[in-house]
Amino acid sequence: MTAPASQVDPFDLVIFGGTGDLAVRKLLPALYHRYADGQIQPGSRLIGVARDTLSQADYHTRVRAALAKAQGEDLPEDVLQGFLKLVSYHALDARKDDGWSQFAAAMQPDSDRVCVFYLATSPEIFIPICERLREHGLNHGKVRVVVEKPIGRDLKSAAAINDAVGRCFAEQQTFRIDHYLGKETVQNLVALRFGNALFEPLWNAGHIDHVQITVAETIGVEWRAGFYDGAGALRDMVQNHLLQLLCLVAMEPPASLAPDAIRDEKLKVLRALKPINESNAAQCSVRGQYRAGASNGGAVPGYLEEIARPESRTETFVALKAELGNWRWAGVPFYLRTGKRLPERVSEIVITFRAIPHSIFGEHAGPISPNKLVLRLQPDEGVKLWLMNKYPGPGGLRLRRVALDMSFAEAFGVRNPDAYERLLMDVVRGNPTLFMRRDEVEAAWAWADPILQAWEASNEAPKSYTAGTWGPSAAVALIERDGRTWHEDAP
Ligand code: BG6
Repeated sequence: MTAPASQVDPFDLVIFGGTGDLAVRKLLPALYHRYADGQIQPGSRLIGVARDTLSQADYHTRVRAALAKAQGEDLPEDVLQGFLKLVSYHALDARKDDGWSQFAAAMQPDSDRVCVFYLATSPEIFIPICERLREHGLNHGKVRVVVEKPIGRDLKSAAAINDAVGRCFAEQQTFRIDHYLGKETVQNLVALRFGNALFEPLWNAGHIDHVQITVAETIGVEWRAGFYDGAGALRDMVQNHLLQLLCLVAMEPPASLAPDAIRDEKLKVLRALKPINESNAAQCSVRGQYRAGASNGGAVPGYLEEIARPESRTETFVALKAELGNWRWAGVPFYLRTGKRLPERVSEIVITFRAIPHSIFGEHAGPISPNKLVLRLQPDEGVKLWLMNKYPGPGGLRLRRVALDMSFAEAFGVRNPDAYERLLMDVVRGNPTLFMRRDEVEAAWAWADPILQAWEASNEAPKSYTAGTWGPSAAVALIERDGRTWHEDAP
């Protein structure tokens, strides 16, 4: 069980790419949970759309298999049957004109009912789908369209997609998803910062030494070699997920939780990022690519073997030193790091406070580490506050770093919902707070583009790292040059 959630009125949700990986691995399990928890009511319609010729029974078999994989044992037959009653399949080739009239007729557009079109397809067909939805009269009052990342591969292509979607749907109808914003701990960052009086007075350059944001994965590129090799870690992870996390850490307190109040503040952060370009990319950025090594207890091939393109220069790891040019954060580096085939799967934000100005303890007390606030997004979601404490017992006053440790699972005793559960229901309810506005996406590209251009201009290959290590040694040097180290979760 998750915390109780209010029911939503029956709605229609169409997933373009209904047989694809995102639909099967994430969207359908998320919808199942919302149904099992009573939030989605009977009468709603969940319609998978894809090119494959499948019967309803075939599609149900696929959905059942996907849910069994996601849920394991915990899939009560009666709940599953109830859920499958909502699910149907419609074969349609989004690139061709054929079949759209039948699809439109089957949809029976109803202007009083919320209808969500989820574009879980490759971005090349976003535009044809939007245009056909409009041509066939499927854009009525309560229609919303969800666009998955990647939105473009640079500022120009992102603007072209935004323009084209914008010709068919208004900005208020457009939900650009970044699933990191649906993660519980990410939303908890807002609760922690603005629901407690404790942190905000210290949340600035006067008290914070630096911030680290790490999103590490153990997996390689899996089945996505084609997409990934054309993108790389900066486009796949930094331009969206890591920058969104940075925005939530760095933004000014919004006046309210109103969608634009938060998004306006995030936009100001993106616009305050100092440029990384040809003049400073060598000092402020490191790109890496994994070679053969070990991961998850077994030997794994290198990236080039995995994608079978020996000449590829695509980065699978990025470390950056970002800075914000504003009063609150002047001089406070934000070190960002993400990569595939790293030693463990961990996503966390570490806020390191400044050292104490003067120590009253003698040498025998041991070193005094600065306080750190660690927000762990995954796995074991929770918050740790590292403090100095007296080591118990006689024998002189010795100090030791200890963490005040709050695990969300233990504190609340509820299942942490997957990010997509929250985000899908927000689309249905029409709440865009956790979705990226057009100007945010474009501001993030405007910062990322010069980094990509600087790498291109340098003509250097990414630095190699062994799979199962924390990236190239240059990433350690990036932070150690400044007299700091990457956070390790140990006393
Ligand atoms: C996606 C990226 O957006 O996020 C993937 O395209 C990455 O490359 C994934 O693996 C990570 O998401 P999560 O929720 O598993 O951290």
